[in-house]
Amino acid sequence: MTNKYVYFIANWKMFGDLKTLNSLDKVIKFSKDNKKKKFKIIYCPPSTLIRPLSKRLKKTKIEVGAQNCHESDKFGPFTGQINSQMLKNVGAKYIILGHSENRLKGDDNKKINLKIKSALKAGLKVIFCIGETLREKRNKKTKQILSKQIQVGLKSVNNNSKIIIAYEPIWSIGSGIIPKPNDLIKSISFIKSKFVKKSPKILYGGSVNPNNIDQIKNINTIDGFLIGGASQDPKKFIDIIKKTIN
Ligand code: 13P
Repeated sequence: MTNKYVYFIANWKMFGDLKTLNSLDKVIKFSKDNKKKKFKIIYCPPSTLIRPLSKRLKKTKIEVGAQNCHESDKFGPFTGQINSQMLKNVGAKYIILGHSENRLKGDDNKKINLKIKSALKAGLKVIFCIGETLREKRNKKTKQILSKQIQVGLKSVNNNSKIIIAYEPIWSIGSGIIPKPNDLIKSISFIKSKFVKKSPKILYGGSVNPNNIDQIKNINTIDGFLIGGASQDPKKFIDIIKKTIN
C-alpha cells in the first residue's frame, strides 16, 4: 500500500468528550513527523467535538468528519437532529453515512440516498458504509445485499469523486473477527465491478487493530481503513498506520 494515499478514518462513535481531545497530541505529532508519507487521517468524533477538534487540528494535515446527519438540507422542526450544512458549518469536511449502527435505527437505503445527496450538496465528502449481516453471508446473499445498498444508496449520484465506500461486514464490527483476505479481495472486487465509470475509493472497516492489520494491509485494492474501537487509543491507531505505511 505504499504507492498511493492510504486513508485511516477514525470513527469514535458515541465516545469522547472535551478531555479526550488531549489524547490526540501524540497523533498530531506522528502526523507532523511523517508528513512526507502518503496517508490521510480523518477523525469522525461525536458532533459535539467537531468544532473544538477542527480548531485544534487547524495547522495539521488531519481532517475532521461527522458521523451522521438528517436528510433535509434545510433547517426544520426536527428535534435533536442536525443537517449536513450545520456540520459543514462547524468544520466537518467528511461524513459517515449508512453505518450499520444507524441502519439498525431506521436508516434504510432510500433514506441513506437522501442523506448522501444532502451531504454532497453541502460540500461534504461522503464515507458511505455498506456490508452484510452474518445471516446474509451464511445464506450467500452478500453480493445481492451489497448491490442493493450501492444501487439505491447512490441513486442519482453522478459524480463518485466525493464518495468513499467503506465495506464493513456487520459481523466483523466490534467482534474481533476480520474476513479471510481472499473473501475480502472478492468482496472489494465485486464492489468495484458495480461501477461502470471510475470506482470510488474503497476502505475496509471492522475490528481493524494492530494485531490483525498485517493480514490485510497488502491488499492493494483497498484504499484504507475505517477504524472504530482501536481509533480511540492513539497508540493503537498510530501502530496500525505505522504497520501499513512502512
Ligand atoms: P470496530 O473497529 O470497533 O470493529 O468498528 C468498526 C466500525 O464500525 C467503524 O465504522
